[in-house]
Amino acid sequence: MRIAVFASGGGSNFQSIVNATALKTLSAEVVLCVASRPEAGVIARSKRAGIPVYILNGTIEDNISELVNVLGNHKVTMIALAGFMRKIPRDLILLYPDRILNIHPALLPEFGGPGMYGSRVHQAVVASGSLVSGATVHLVDEEYDSGPIILQETVPVLPTDTAESLAARVLITEHALYPKALQLFAQNRIKLIDRKVSFIESQKS
Ligand code: GAR
Repeated sequence: MRIAVFASGGGSNFQSIVNATALKTLSAEVVLCVASRPEAGVIARSKRAGIPVYILNGTIEDNISELVNVLGNHKVTMIALAGFMRKIPRDLILLYPDRILNIHPALLPEFGGPGMYGSRVHQAVVASGSLVSGATVHLVDEEYDSGPIILQETVPVLPTDTAESLAARVLITEHALYPKALQLFAQNRIKLIDRKVSFIESQKS
């Protein structure tokens, strides 16, 4: 499986995916990083890892034909959004059916949707009085945070938590969860029926 990671921020999830490929807990290769802005910290991480970077100049729609060419040139078979703050247009979703994943820093379908990203998510969770939060890896469809859920893991919300302390705890869980979800795809273990996921047992060798 040949992964392109799309990111807008520091890229700690990008790093966890690259690390998992190096450790061979993820049987895949990260072949491309797509950054939404030239200041994104993920760019330096990608260069350090020797992975080519494509920087979007504007929205995906503005760059769609060039982006599709770049993805094709690198023979990308899976797209992983990791803190990517741009909407994925229908054209790209149609080109990679059930092959675009996103990680969200809460337990979807709660605390998701338009405007719910980064620290806003954790602020809303803390304000709600919820005792649990967590991370969700899901397939991307045309609505924000609404595609089929692949994996989730819970994280406790402590009475003393701020959005920042909760974000840090959730991020640690994200770093383990995203490579695990990608590995299910690498091993062809995902079956979708009526937009609901089931897992095919791994083959013992
Ligand atoms: C992560 O917490 C990710 O779940 C979140 O942005 C952060 C990126 O961190 N994504 C969203 O909020 C998308 N709705 P990173 O750049 O260190 O991987």
